[in-house]
Amino acid sequence: MCGIFGCQSLQPQNLVEKTLQGLKILEYRGYDSAGIAYNATNQLKIIKAVGGLERLANKTTTPPPTNVCIGHTRWATNGAVSVKNSHPHLSADGSIAVVHNGIIENYQQCVTKLAKHGIKLKTPVDTEVIPNILYLLSHNKHNIHKYLQGQYVFCATEQLQNNLFLAKKGSLPLYIGRDQQTIYISSDTLALPQSVNQIIAMEDLETCEIINQQPTFYHNNHPIRKDWQPFNQSFVASDKNGFTTYMEKEINEIPAITQRIITAYQSDPTIRTLQRQFRTQLKTVNCVHLCACGTSYHAAKIIAHIIERELHLRAIAHISSELNATTLLAEPSLAIVISQSGETADTLAAMDILQQQNIPIIALCNVTTSTIAKRSQIVFPLLCGPEIAVASTKVFCAAVLVGCLLINDYNTISCDNLIKYTTKTLRNARKLLPTPSKIPHQIFIIGKGINYTLALEAALKIKEVTYLHCEGYPANELKHGPLSLVDDNTLAIVFGDDSANASAEIQARGGKVVTLLSPDYQHNPLAFVSQIIPAQIFALDLALSLGNNPDKPRNLAKSVTVL
Ligand code: G6P
Repeated sequence: MCGIFGCQSLQPQNLVEKTLQGLKILEYRGYDSAGIAYNATNQLKIIKAVGGLERLANKTTTPPPTNVCIGHTRWATNGAVSVKNSHPHLSADGSIAVVHNGIIENYQQCVTKLAKHGIKLKTPVDTEVIPNILYLLSHNKHNIHKYLQGQYVFCATEQLQNNLFLAKKGSLPLYIGRDQQTIYISSDTLALPQSVNQIIAMEDLETCEIINQQPTFYHNNHPIRKDWQPFNQSFVASDKNGFTTYMEKEINEIPAITQRIITAYQSDPTIRTLQRQFRTQLKTVNCVHLCACGTSYHAAKIIAHIIERELHLRAIAHISSELNATTLLAEPSLAIVISQSGETADTLAAMDILQQQNIPIIALCNVTTSTIAKRSQIVFPLLCGPEIAVASTKVFCAAVLVGCLLINDYNTISCDNLIKYTTKTLRNARKLLPTPSKIPHQIFIIGKGINYTLALEAALKIKEVTYLHCEGYPANELKHGPLSLVDDNTLAIVFGDDSANASAEIQARGGKVVTLLSPDYQHNPLAFVSQIIPAQIFALDLALSLGNNPDKPRNLAKSVTVL
């Protein structure tokens, strides 16, 4: 959450445009406001706007060529969404600008310290202490970690200097990339231009100063050497491939991803070796703990169900933030963490607890260079390519499928059937679950067993992008309370054909019921993997009909790096 982008070059260039392009790709990390700072005629020029990147771009007409530019896209954590509170933040004398991601935990202490030096802050945003402390540190800025507590990455630039100064404490990502003419800073490698062929990842407690395109690194205030790593940007992040939204594009990628995963997990030698290691480890434990958040948690719940059903091994899915030091984790056990981004703070915190108890951690992760991936013993890639829309779709199906293929080697017929079924479900999605002509004031989604978890995921998707009240519920449990809410403006979506009683109870109270029949599990044991697709398309279409942007739902961010 919050995206940082910056660039520097020896010769003045169109770095403002390059920064805006980078920020556009990082918008998934937060989109309530954005801003840039660049050196123009010997002073720092700051431009900020509330709202999406277009607003900032509209305010940034005909920027001059420059040697340095930094930018930020914000997801507000402290301080309201406003131009004043958006980044970059300036030191009191206006000479240092900072863009920041994360939290400064000793903010109050810093405010008091700054006040002793006569520095009064203008905003309630923790970021504002950073340029002021850098100002006080003057030539000793590599010592910054001594003064700031919390989890953060930031990028600063100074008036007249054309330099970039970076710092990282904790696990938030920050990369430096370079091509022939320019050096880039980015929260995500995805936003680096295709011309970038070398990168360096900032690590915990490091600082870096970049002068004339040359970075020098420090760890805890001691100089260190870091080498450039080869990098090949194979993905054009801005490409919607003819679809109007990323969400639709990503749902339409599910059949191809299904095929890709099946091929890789059946025949890629590295993945096969890891699979064997995982299965050997499974034989040594009494319990599997799965941890994840949001959509990934729903994938975890389904995988737990499959582990219990297929292996008769106890498996418990935990919402990452609900795992705590007192949670009883049966011994010996194994943990599986699931994450699209690999940067979710709640899941990283759950990993701390698992590691304290010496439980080996396996990750199912889409971003295999992420912090969660780096901190896991074995990483199984989800092979989806970047997922841009905030509401996760393709990665949900991928995580469930990878989970299944780790547990079992399904035969070719089952795998082929899944690919055919996925393609057919996608083609028929709008017939299976049509968008209602009248918008219901609430939606219930119900089912039993795996279908109940699919109902939870469908409800989350609808909530995220339509802002309608929508609840996933176990079918038979509805009568024990929530039935009181059902009226003739209620829509119920029923997963599976084994919830006839609950359906009848809803209809008897005027609710409208649409049933999504379950595939034949005997014939098609993997089909439930893509059973969610009609609900994903339903959420997308309903959001569009309500005038919402499904790619960037209000108040949300794709990568949630705060607790
Ligand atoms: C955020 C996103 C959700 C996502 C959740 C977990 O809340 O908006 O779409 O499911 O984080 O993210 P992860 O990257 O760990 O799967």
